[in-house]
Amino acid sequence: MTRFTVAIDGPAAAGKGTISKAVAAHFGFAHLDTGLLYRAVGAKVLAGGDPVASAKSLTEQDLQGNLRTQEVAEAASRVAVLPYVRAALFEFQREFAARDGGAVLDGRDIGTVICPDAQVKLYVTASAEVRAERRYLELTENSMDVTRADVLADVKARDKRDSERAEAPLKPADDAVIIDTSDLSIGDAVARAVSAIDARR
Ligand code: CDP
Repeated sequence: MTRFTVAIDGPAAAGKGTISKAVAAHFGFAHLDTGLLYRAVGAKVLAGGDPVASAKSLTEQDLQGNLRTQEVAEAASRVAVLPYVRAALFEFQREFAARDGGAVLDGRDIGTVICPDAQVKLYVTASAEVRAERRYLELTENSMDVTRADVLADVKARDKRDSERAEAPLKPADDAVIIDTSDLSIGDAVARAVSAIDARR
């Protein structure tokens, strides 16, 4: 078996999750949504936990709860600026990336910090308005009580915090393939990702 790592980064609600799942299914690779790790730590902090202790003691079960709320996303981006939190999650992500048979990891710093040697790096983005609309539809489909204006403000605030932090800021790796999904269907975005990966295999 061989190692093959696909790193997929980008801002909130750009389509990383959808593309990552589709690509993993297409190539038979394992998939890790690294945002879930930060969301799980954020949720523990909202419940009164210490950020670093929470990051060090994460279990499978911590990743199972309802982590896809705006409140948890906000808490995730607050704990994600802490170097000791990032350090505590580093090894798990590295080991996942090095597994036999191929791995797709999506997040903010996969191509730049976690897997700088990934065979393929994609940076998936879209305009803030398009991303906020997608996230609004996703949240309201899951019966969450939010307004479009709130979701747009949250997306912009998180983008700013994620991009401006000192530790592992959100930015495309120098050798990343940029996929702007603002005007792409899901099928077209996935097709671009698949062809970028095929080109490196
Ligand atoms: O799904 P969405 O793109 O909205 O967010 P997510 O990928 O679940 O990530 C939630 C938050 O975790 C982000 O806003 C980042 O602050 C943080 N994060 C990070 O710092 N590094 C990663 N590799 C993944 C997520």
